Amino acid sequence: MSSIRSSRPLRLVQITDSHLGDQPHARLLNIDTDRSLAAVLELVRREQPQIDALLATGDLADSGATAAYQRFAAASEGLGGQTRWLPGNHDEWPQLRQAVGASSALLERTLLLGNWQIVMLDSTVAGEVGGSIAAAELEALRTALAAAPDRHALVCLHHHVLPVGAAWLDAQRVANSEQLLAELAGWPQVRAVLSGHVHQPSEQKYEHFILLTSPSTCIQFAEGSAEFRVDPNGVPGYRWLELYPDGRIETGISWVTEHQFQVDASAAGY
Ligand SMILES: [Fe+2]
Repeated sequence: MSSIRSSRPLRLVQITDSHLGDQPHARLLNIDTDRSLAAVLELVRREQPQIDALLATGDLADSGATAAYQRFAAASEGLGGQTRWLPGNHDEWPQLRQAVGASSALLERTLLLGNWQIVMLDSTVAGEVGGSIAAAELEALRTALAAAPDRHALVCLHHHVLPVGAAWLDAQRVANSEQLLAELAGWPQVRAVLSGHVHQPSEQKYEHFILLTSPSTCIQFAEGSAEFRVDPNGVPGYRWLELYPDGRIETGISWVTEHQFQVDASAAGY
C-alpha cells in the first residue's frame, strides 16, 4: 500500500430500513418514519463529525415512491463523505434511479477508500420479500474483488446471509446463501458482510469474515421471535464502523434515546 494513504481508520455510517412513505410523515405501525429518520440523522451529525462514507442498505422507501427517495436524499445530504445506496425488497429501482438520477454516484457498484473496497450487491428478487443473489450479481462481486486484490473488502447487501434466530425473518434471508458464502470464503480480502432487512443488530463470524445486521431507523423486530413480532421497546438506531488500514474492524450501534417513539406492537405484520 502507498504510504500516502492515511493510517487513521475510515469512519462509516450505515443507515438502513427507513421505510419512508409516499407522503411525508406517513406512519408505519404508528411510527412517523420521516421523523425517526431525522432523529437518527441528528444523532449521526452529533456523534460523527468526520464520515468517510454513508451506506444506505435498502428499504429506504416503504413502497418505492419517487418522493420518498427524494426526501431520503434531502434528509441525508451534507453528512460528509461519499454515499452509496442499494435496494431492498420494499424499494423500486426505477423510482429510486429517477429520484437520484441514473448516473448518480450513489448507485455505483463499488467505493474505494484508503486500503478498502466497499462492494454493493442487489439481493432483491422482483415480487418477493426474501432475497437471492442472481448470477449477474455474483459475477459483479467476483469482478470487483478480482480488480482490487490488495484491498480489504466490505460487502453490502440488503438481505441477511446467515440466520439471526428469528424464524420468520430467517426464511427471507438470501436463498442461495451457501453459494454466496462459498464465494466470499474464496477471497481472503473479504473482512465483513453488512446487511439490513432484519431490523435488529447481530454479529456472526464465518470463515475469515464477520456478518453484521443492523437496526432500522424506524421500528425494530423482536429478537429470537419465531413469528412476526415488533419489539415494543425498540428505538431507532444506526450502525457505525471503523475500518483500519490493516483490515481490522470496529463497529457498534447507536440508539436514539431522547425522543419518544411509541410503536404499535400489536400489529400482525407490516
Ligand atoms: Fe427488507
